[in-house]
Parts: sequence; C-alpha cells; structure tokens
Amino acid sequence: MVKSNQRDLTEVLSSGQKKYFPSKKVLKNAVVKDYEGTLKKAKSNPEKFWEEAAEDLHWFKKWDKVLDKRKKPFYKWFTKAKCNLAYNALDRHIQNGNKNKLAIIWEDETGRKKKYTYYQLYEEVNKMANALRGLGIKKGDRVAIYMPNIPEIAITMLACLKIGAMHSVVYAGFSAGALRDRIKDARAKILVTADGSFRRGKVIDLKSIADEAVKQCKTIKKVIVAKNNGAKIKFNKRRDIWFNDFIKNQSAEAKTQEMDAEDPAFVLYTSGTTSKPKGVIHVHGGYAVGVLRTIKWVFDLKGDEIFWCTADPGWITGHSYIIYGPLMAGITTVMYEGVPDVPTPDRIWKIVEKYKVNVLYTAPTLIRAMMRYGFEWPQKHKMASLRILGSVGEPINPEAWKWFYKYVGKNHCPIMDTWWQTETGMNMITPLPVAPLKAGSACKPFPGIIADIVGKEGKKVPAGKGGYLVIKNQWPSMIRTIFNNPKRYLKTYWEQVKGVYFTGDVAYRDKEGYFWIQGRTDDVLKIAGHRIGTAEVESAFVSHKDAVEAGVIGVPDEIRGEVIKAFIILKKGVKGTDTLKIKLKKQVRKTLGPVAVIKDIEFVEKLPKTRSGKIMRRVLKAKELNLPLGDTSSLI
Ligand code: WT7
Repeated sequence: MVKSNQRDLTEVLSSGQKKYFPSKKVLKNAVVKDYEGTLKKAKSNPEKFWEEAAEDLHWFKKWDKVLDKRKKPFYKWFTKAKCNLAYNALDRHIQNGNKNKLAIIWEDETGRKKKYTYYQLYEEVNKMANALRGLGIKKGDRVAIYMPNIPEIAITMLACLKIGAMHSVVYAGFSAGALRDRIKDARAKILVTADGSFRRGKVIDLKSIADEAVKQCKTIKKVIVAKNNGAKIKFNKRRDIWFNDFIKNQSAEAKTQEMDAEDPAFVLYTSGTTSKPKGVIHVHGGYAVGVLRTIKWVFDLKGDEIFWCTADPGWITGHSYIIYGPLMAGITTVMYEGVPDVPTPDRIWKIVEKYKVNVLYTAPTLIRAMMRYGFEWPQKHKMASLRILGSVGEPINPEAWKWFYKYVGKNHCPIMDTWWQTETGMNMITPLPVAPLKAGSACKPFPGIIADIVGKEGKKVPAGKGGYLVIKNQWPSMIRTIFNNPKRYLKTYWEQVKGVYFTGDVAYRDKEGYFWIQGRTDDVLKIAGHRIGTAEVESAFVSHKDAVEAGVIGVPDEIRGEVIKAFIILKKGVKGTDTLKIKLKKQVRKTLGPVAVIKDIEFVEKLPKTRSGKIMRRVLKAKELNLPLGDTSSLI
C-alpha cells in the first residue's frame, strides 16, 4: 500500500522504525509509478529490460545479441552494435531540439560563472577533438586528464570519446606520485591539465604537480594546460600548449568515430585492498545504457531538470552523474568547483536556490559536515525547486538521512540512497522515487539487477543476517576488465564467491527485502564471533547529539578477538570529557547491544579520509597499532 497523504508521509513500523512514503506530487511526477510491478517485470527478463533501455540511445548500427556470455566473466553487451558515448551525450541533442538548452552551469568558489548551451559545448568538444586528432591521438590511445571541476574537463573527456580515445581522469586532489603511477599504468600519450584551482581562497598549483609527475613518464609527449586561475606557472615551451591556443584554429565540426559497443570508453583508477590502484574499464555501449536508464528512473528525469551532483568529475560518480548521465538525458548539469562552506556554510543551499536545482545528489560526509553548522543555514534559503535528493559513497547514517530529509528536502523530497561502485558504473541498489523509504537503507536492487547476500560458499543467508553482497546477474555498465590485468579482474571480482560478482561489501536484508549496506568486508569487525560493521558502530556514535563524525577500527583483544577503538569528532564547542566518553559508550550499547564492545574513545579534530571522503580506517589502525601505513596516495 502506498500512502499519499501530503501531511502524513510516514508510518511507524512494528520494529519502531519509520517508513517514508512519496508525496502526491512525487507520485504524479514519477517516471516509474508501479515500483514492485516494475521490479518484478524486469526480474523476469533482465535482458529484455536492458534491450528496451537501449532504445533510448542512438546506435549507428543495432546489436546482434543483447548479452554474450560465451567468454564469461568477460561478458559482452550489445554485440556487433556501433555507437559512441559522446555522440549520445552531445551530437544527437543538436538535432533533437535541445540545441539551445543549457548543458552546463558552472560556478567556482570565487564566484566566477560560465554557462554552455548544448550547441556551444558541442562546438568546443569538436574543436578539442580535432586538435587531439592533429596531435595524432587516435582510437584506443589513452589521454590522461588532471583537472579541477571546470568545463574544460567535460570538454576534454567528451572530445576523447568522440575520436575513440580513452580518457583516464585522475582526481585533481591526488599527489604527483599517484598521478605518475596512473599515467604510467595507462601509458597515456598526452596529459591535459590546468594552471591551478582555488580551494578556500588558496591557490592550488596543479601545473607544478603535473610537471613533477610527467618528469618520470616517458610516454607523455604533450601537456595541454587550461587557464583557470591565472596563477604564474612554469611553462615548458617545447612540451606545453595552452588549451585555448590548442583549440583556437580548429573547425567546430568533427567527425564522430563509430565505436563498437564493446570498445573501451575510459579507464578509471580505484583503490583496492592492495596499494596498486586498479584501472577499471568501461565501454561505449553498455555503460551508456546503464547510466542513462538509472539517471532517468532514479532521479525522475523528464528532460527539463537542473541536476546537481556535488561529486568531482575525477570519480565515477562525476563521470556517470555529472557528465555522461545528465548530458545523455539532455538536461542541465551544475558543476561547482569549490568547497561547501566558503564563504559561508550555506554555499550549497545558495547554489540550489540560485539555479533552482531540482535534483541534489551528494554524499553523507557532506551532509554531516553541514549538520555540524546547523539547520539554520539551509533554513535561510528557499529551495522549493528541489524534488529529489540523492546520497552516495558510503552508508548514510539515519541521523544524517533524517536531517537531509527534514531541513533540505523539507519533508517532501525522497532521498535516493544509491549503492554502487566504480566497477558497476551505475546505481545498483537504490530506491526509485515512488518507493517507501527507510532512513539508512539503500532499498532494493534497481530493476534488472539481481543482488543477494551470501556466505563464503555462496549460500543465501536469511533475512537479518549479515553476509557478502553479490550481484548474481550481469548488467550493461559492468566493469569489463582491469586495464592490463585481466587476472586481477578475475581474482578480485569473480573468484571470491563462485559464479557471482563479488562487491567486497557486507550487508544484510531485512524481512521486507530492503538492503542495509554495512561497509567493506575489510572494515568488518569480529567481536567475540559476532560480525559487526564499522559503519554501523560509527552510525551509532553519531546518533549521539554531540558527535559529528566517527571512525572506528578493530584492535586486538585477548578474550574477544577484536574490540572497538573509536575516533570521534565532536560538535563545535563541545568538550571531550570522560563523562561524555561514558555517554557515548552507552549510546552505542543502546543502539547495537553489548556485542559492540568499546575499548577506547579518542576525541580528534580530523579523520584521515580518501579524496572521495571515505574514512581510511586502515590508516587509523596502522597508526594505532604501529603497523606500516601502506598506500596513502589517496589521502588528503
Ligand atoms: C564503495 C564503492 C560509486 C559511488 C562512489 C564510490 C561504498 C557507495 C554507497 C551507499 C553504502 C556505499 C561501498 C562500495 N558505497 N555507495 N549508498 N551505501 N555504501 O565509489 O569509490 O568505487 O566505492 O562505496 O562500500 O563498495 P567507489
């Protein structure tokens, strides 16, 4: 039953947990109205489901077969089809009436603004495509990109794909060493970067980091430099070219390279459990199908939305939901280069109000940071344009969920807690706007996805019990391989549990089939034989009014095997006393029961995090136990 009374959108379940129902307005607007029916239909024939989704795109030549499993797990989608991801994101809009619509709204921390219509973006991309061709870049070559969140990064990514080259975007917060390793692994021929960017008013000198990295990369012939902040930089006249000079005299029309649906579109490096990053490969055809179908259905797109994903283009979230997804859907994407609390803690809400953002897709870490400043900040702003909210990157603790729902969504915007990975390319476990929501649950698998929770041997575990989150079928935007390392592809994803895709996450399912993601397997503690996710313990800590963020690790314990050590960031102005420690311990005990045994609490100002905002418990653990630190290249 779906309740649609605007005033009463919640229901308290017998477990004491609340369910949040869509408002009348959401129901009326929804692209998918019958949630369970749609799931059921897709499940009965996922290939048919994806084949229908593929019809939303332009194909130079249609496929012979939707899914080819002969070389599994090297699956192939839409075999023999011809297409191009960039063509689907841009060219077809020039012909279909979106020509003069806004494609990109860009703003930076200092308040500079730029807007591109689809046609303007198309012209810039074509010029860049021609310029790259002029350098001899061709189908299959790799182009490294190390740029801030500026329009030129989108232009460069699209231009690479248009000519069939692969991009390898390296997040602009990475160090020179990390950039060097990624360029080397991909054997990239050129690097596209920028002079620098601003961060909290400080100038970040990207070019000198790029210079340092390229010093040791023999494959890089040219470095293209976008002028962004106008900082004084060293310029190597023989090697470096300004972005504007590079594209200046180029034609604004360029031929699209027709690609096989299975031709690689890009490589994107992601950290794994070892120190060497993995180059995840995504392709032109299936990736486009998965990303377009999910963005349309998860965020209820009709075609006229202003969509803001606060991630960085350097991550898969940015690839799929700042650039390719919104552009394929023909809507307007917002790019913001800056931090959320400059000049004041309402920068995010200001942008939402100013551009009348309809969909705000962000991360729990940002929500928690905003919570710390208080609800007064979002309350200052009219955000009536907002229809749907989104969260991604880590489990969202119910407190952050509720705060987001109440103070940002004003109790009427459903929150899409989307679980997915660099490797999956698209949202995998997520509600749709019409689904009844539970704060902290990513809901159910997207239509066409069959997920399960299993034990080591691959046997399904009963509801309420934790286990490995696996995907039992194939989906079009799945990782195809690890660049130059098919063995690692097999080992990481297909040899952990037989016959299924291994996500590396632990989760449980409740009686209603809702998935509750607990975190990575490597972040799971075993306390007196009980399995307990660090994310769960952290959520329990931050459910206390004085705790804003928590990082917990397992430390050895003679009797219980492992117990918890917690690092807590307190709300501004709160004193870290021993009494508070006792209260926090009680809070966790109250939420999780006596299994969550806390040995120690330490109050800290900062937690070590990856660039994408995930707490690096590994680093906490290494420091605590005096172990070697391992790879910290993705640390801030
Ligand atoms: C890992 C993937 C693809 C999005 C950005 C991160 C965790 C991601 C959620 C969520 C709980 C989540 C998982 C996953 N994760 N989204 N909604 N709820 N956990 O991409 O760096 O490839 O990380 O992020 O642990 O395996 P990524």
